[in-house]
Amino acid sequence: MEKTFLMVKPDGVQRNLIGEIVSRFEKKGFRLAGAKLMQVSNELAEEHYGEHKERPFFGELVEFITSGPVFAMVWEGENVISTARNMMGKTNPSEAAPSTIRGDYGVTVGKNIIHGSDSPESAEREINLFFDEKELVSYEKVD
Ligand code: CMP
Repeated sequence: MEKTFLMVKPDGVQRNLIGEIVSRFEKKGFRLAGAKLMQVSNELAEEHYGEHKERPFFGELVEFITSGPVFAMVWEGENVISTARNMMGKTNPSEAAPSTIRGDYGVTVGKNIIHGSDSPESAEREINLFFDEKELVSYEKVD
């Protein structure tokens, strides 16, 4: 079953949007395979956002994601990677369509509420970066 990594960023946690965001993915029909409220270290942030290292906003990005607790999650389901990206909306909330998470709750590109893996490769990398295998559940016996 396809899995993706989603993370409610510090602005989303602070604005009490964890429940709303979890609810959207549950209602859509995806299954939560792992979740934790955690503080991201500088080291983890730099690794997670490694592909943006040369961007002018890299420092800001690391500073923001380490500024308060995040809610890290692994979700599973058919085409969950691309569907979750559609449900999140465009990276810049001012361009994100209404009814998407960023379209409904975000204003600025830096504080855009939620992160989601953009490909199967980044999903695997990000899940392994944030979670131990033991922290993920399996629904195989329920199916
Ligand atoms: P995310 O999906 O977490 O992945 C990279 C992040 O970089 C992105 O969400 C945005 O929050 C952030 N980002 C992109 N462009 C800018 C920018 N111009 N200034 C600050 N942050 C940005």
